[in-house]
Order: sequence, then C-alpha cells, then structure tokens
Amino acid sequence: MANGKTVLVTGGAGYVGSHTVVELLEQNYNVISIDNLVNAYADSPTEKPESLKRIEKLTGKSITSYNIDIRCKDNLDKVFKTHKIDYVIHFAALKSVGESCAKPLQYYQNNISGSCVLFEVMSENNVKKLVFSSSATVYGTPQKLPLDENHPTGQGCTNPYGKTKFFVEEIMKDLCSSDSEWSAISLRYFNPVGAHESGLIGEDPSGIPNNLMPFIAQVAVGRRAKLSVYGSDYDTIDGTGVRDYIHVNDLAIGHVRALDKFCDNNFKGFKPYNLGTGKGLSVLQMVEAFKKASGKDIPYEIVDRRPGDIASCYADASLALKELNWSATKDVNAMCKDTWNWQSKNPNGYQTKTAN
Ligand code: NAD
Ligand code: UFG
Repeated sequence: MANGKTVLVTGGAGYVGSHTVVELLEQNYNVISIDNLVNAYADSPTEKPESLKRIEKLTGKSITSYNIDIRCKDNLDKVFKTHKIDYVIHFAALKSVGESCAKPLQYYQNNISGSCVLFEVMSENNVKKLVFSSSATVYGTPQKLPLDENHPTGQGCTNPYGKTKFFVEEIMKDLCSSDSEWSAISLRYFNPVGAHESGLIGEDPSGIPNNLMPFIAQVAVGRRAKLSVYGSDYDTIDGTGVRDYIHVNDLAIGHVRALDKFCDNNFKGFKPYNLGTGKGLSVLQMVEAFKKASGKDIPYEIVDRRPGDIASCYADASLALKELNWSATKDVNAMCKDTWNWQSKNPNGYQTKTAN
C-alpha cells in the first residue's frame, strides 16, 4: 500500500529512531534521517550510520541520511529546501540523566536550543506537523499511579535532562497556540527496551550503560561481571524499583500511529500521549525474565539506592488506545528474548572492535 509521505527523522540512527525508521519504511513512508553521530556509530564521519545501513539490508529500501547537527540552521534549512517534507519526528537529544547533572549547559544547548532551531526551520519551510520524543520523567515524582496525561508535569523534575523534555513540551504548546497550522504530538515514553527481532539493530550505549536492561544484557554476554541493584528497601513487591518496560517495536509503532493522527483534520494543537504497557516490573523480576530468555546467569549485588530514583513508575496508556488506536503487544519475555538476540549476535554493539 503506497503511503508516499516523507518523514524527516532527527536522531534517526539512534536506538528508538532506528526502530521507528524500520516501521516507517514498512508502512511505505519515505525516510530522511539527520544525525550528528554523537551517540551513533558510523565507520567514518561521512559514512551512513551503521544502524541505517543494516536497516537498508533488512527492508530492501533506501534511506536518505545526513550526518548533520540540528543546531546548524543553515545545514538543516538545506535539507528542508532539498526535500518536500510532510512530517518531522524529533528524537535527537542527549539522554543521560547523570551526565546532564554534570554538564547542564550541554543538555540545555543540545536539547532545547536544538529543538528551537528545528522548529524555526520547520516553520520557515511550512512544515508544521511534529512528533516529539518525550519521557515519563516530565511527571517528576508520581503523585498517584498509574500516571495519566493529566498528572502535573515539570514539578519535581530533579535533573536537567528531565527538565529539557518538560521545557520542549512547553515550547511546543506555545508554538501551537501562536499558530493554528501547527500540530504537535508529544509521546511520553516509559522505559524502552528490546530490539528488532532480526537482531540486526538494537541499543548500543557507549561506555558503561546507565539503564537496567543494557546493563543486564552486558552481564549476560560477559562484558560486565555483575549488576548493581540500586536499593532493595523500596515499597514495592520485592523492595527493588518498579518500572513500565516497553518493547521498542511497540514504541516505534506508536510513532506511526501518531502520524496517522495528523490525517484527522479535526486534530489541532499540542497533545501528549503516554506510551507504556501499564504494567510495572521490579528490577529482580527483570533479572529473572532475562535469565529465562538467555539461559545465562545474571550475578547481582544489592547496593545503595541511586540518588534521584523513585520507587515505582508505570503508565495509564488508555488515552493512546482511545485516540491513537495503539497499545503495547509485546510482553517481558519478548523484550528479553529480543534484547538477548541482539546482544549475543553483537556483543560489542555496532562496532566490531572490543568496546570498553
Ligand atoms: P539515542 O542516543 O540512541 O538516539 C538519539 C540520537 O540523536 C543519537 O543517534 C544521536 O547521535 C542523535 N543526536 C543527539 N543530538 C543531536 C544533534 N544535536 N543533532 C543531530 N543528532 C543528534 O537515544 P534513544 O534512546 O534512541 O532516544 C531517542 C529519544 O527518546 C531522545 O530524545 C530521548 O531523550 C528520548 N527518550 C528515550 C528514552 C530511553 O530510555 N531510551 C526514554 C524516554 C525518552
Ligand atoms: N537499576 C539498577 N541497576 C542499574 C540500572 C538501573 O538497579 O544498573 C534500576 C533503577 O534503580 C530503576 C530501574 O532499574 O529502579 C530502571 O532504571 P533505568 O535507569 O533503566 O531507568 P529509569 O526509570 O531510571 O529512567 C529511564 C531513562 C530516563 C527516562 C525514564 C522514563 O533513563 O531517561 O526511564 O522514561 F526519563
């Protein structure tokens, strides 16, 4: 079935971006990716990112790709002048919570200034339909669970990374209020995990992973000795932190459903949607599920709580079901199985040489 619309994907070579690109190509969208390679691998600065090369192999379709920075207005403008773009999906951002506390200006510069440049260029080129990668972190410490989209945002966002997501949402709201031609959907992800079932693309964090699932996967594959479990005295099922893990392919489909929403002529303005499963799983439940999926032991030790962590966080995703016709379909076994398939086939991620 021909779709034929063209989507500009910023951060298209990254983890969530690359999985969304597969889904877009499968739905017959034309894809243009922009990525500055700050967190994506390419054999050289001028080559196509490795994730996109693999997607071309997987899908048999081609991707137009630019290794440029969204903050460079001239370069961005050239892309908009070269192609007729219908929609933008904006993934490009720095995303490490810890690093954002150490280097706040870098995060505000990249994530907020970068978004402003992108929105400006979009406006100037009359492209005014945007899907944005937001995060459950905008809710801060949950006042009640599950979290729905009416929960206050921006209160208790303890780190600069989380604040950038909140601020960009506010900017999107103001933009939509100022110009009725603008429509913007903010997808608030819970905890994306898993990989494409082919094992060709997946999450490839540089350095020591901050997040639970890639850390477990690297322990299973022998790159790390053991997992540190951050706290066992939370008020949860087994004392360890509870999160709403969502398969990255489900997340990718959520982006396509968000684009479908733009075909509804009644849809206007800014709208946020949670993308999660609605189910919370503890750290130890994730360890057990991964052991089962991989057949590997996952040694761990309980250590102190990680500063800034909350006990539990999970979504009420009913609005996405009602308005986007989207719900998560893959369970924790699929999340672990696909992560293990990717990690065991690519022990060092996209690079063939040994990583740290
Ligand atoms: P990622 O780091 O794998 O992908 C982001 C991509 O953007 C990278 O390839 C990076 O090189 C690129 N990029 C960064 N700054 C850029 C710039 N200035 N110009 C051009 N390219 C740039 O991260 P991801 O996990 O795929 O996350 C994608 C988006 O989803 C991010 O906005 C992130 O904040 C958001 N998000 C991620 C999670 C998660 O746990 N993975 C959770 C909630 C929200
Ligand atoms: N955890 C460990 N050991 C680790 C890593 C994590 O025990 O080595 C625990 C954490 O304490 C937490 C759970 O595993 O209880 C999940 O931690 P992650 O770091 O994987 O995920 P977070 O929920 O802390 O944060 C993630 C992203 C944020 C995003 C948020 C909501 O890192 O950017 O999900 O989308 F904002």
